[in-house]
Amino acid sequence: MKILITGGAGYLGSILTPTLLAQGHEVTVLDNFYFNQNSLMDCCGNEKFSVVRGDCREESLMKPLIAKADLIIPLAALVGVPICNTDSLATTSTNQAAVEMLCRLASKQQWVIMPVTNSGYGVGEKGKFCTEETPLRPLSTYGVTKVKAEEAVLSRENSLSFRLATVFGCAPRMRLDLLVNDFVYRAMHDRAVLIFEGHFKRNYVHIRDVARAFTHGIANFETMKGKPYNVGLDDANLSKLELCAVIQKHLPKFVYVEAPIGEDPDKRDYIVSNARIAGTGFKPEWSLDRGIVELMKGFTILRNTIYSNV
Ligand SMILES: NC(=O)c1ccc[n+]([C@@H]2O[C@H](COP(=O)([O-])OP(=O)(O)OC[C@H]3O[C@@H](n4cnc5c(N)ncnc54)[C@H](O)[C@@H]3O)[C@@H](O)[C@H]2O)c1
Repeated sequence: MKILITGGAGYLGSILTPTLLAQGHEVTVLDNFYFNQNSLMDCCGNEKFSVVRGDCREESLMKPLIAKADLIIPLAALVGVPICNTDSLATTSTNQAAVEMLCRLASKQQWVIMPVTNSGYGVGEKGKFCTEETPLRPLSTYGVTKVKAEEAVLSRENSLSFRLATVFGCAPRMRLDLLVNDFVYRAMHDRAVLIFEGHFKRNYVHIRDVARAFTHGIANFETMKGKPYNVGLDDANLSKLELCAVIQKHLPKFVYVEAPIGEDPDKRDYIVSNARIAGTGFKPEWSLDRGIVELMKGFTILRNTIYSNV
């Protein structure tokens, strides 16, 4: 297929783009390289890879790129609550308006597959598994704009969305601000973490299983289209304290302490059922343990030490 990925140089895109190229697809990435990332250098030798530096909000730039694609995967966004809170206008125009524009410009026949956060389940009923029928009621600007973008995507034909759990694992464009990645980094380099809302539960999924969910969605598009799908590990509906206990198995010197130092802006405390995507034949391959072992290797390489001698 001819696939257009906006934001394809980001954390998810830097694994998804080479995965799709390896399957023989023609992939065009449109990205403004917001983080000066060099995450797609490895793809440049592939004749089926094209790259455009630009802004997904620019209609004149997007129109011809969208026209050429069989499938559009909108990843471009300001991702996570903290960055969204620094610029709410850029958040709304990138995360929501650009996706609405893309839906307007694409023809009915073109496919759209987009990832959204499942963080809006956070205010659901305690102790009850959230399914795709559970209403999403996000509180943060990040969560609200992603839910509105999902509404735009699912209200058109030939679309589906993946409601991703918190993603973990190594990628060429690394993110240390995701919960599992952050805790493993601190466990290795600081040996300690101070936790707030330690009993709040969430669901997790490995970045390579996210890429596999996209290839699964492409292979089974006709039967899967028209719906959202939760994507996470069934056996990793874990509280932050339980997550730390798993990390401690791998790094026995790791110390974690709870203190009332913060509150989750989306009040995330939920457990998620992934039965719908499992029913389509999708099974994750990466456990939390496997991902932690991978991250420990990754963090032997990466260290945030630009202002330090060691
Ligand atoms: N990582 C997760 O845990 C997770 C969970 C659920 C959903 N998602 C969604 O997946 C997508 C990708 O997230 P990620 O973790 O890879 O984040 P990321 O920040 O690594 O990637 C975002 C990419 O978008 C690009 N970008 C930003 N503004 C742009 C603009 N105006 N024009 C063009 N490109 C622009 C950035 O340069 C970057 O490459 C997002 O839509 C996010 O909401 C991620």
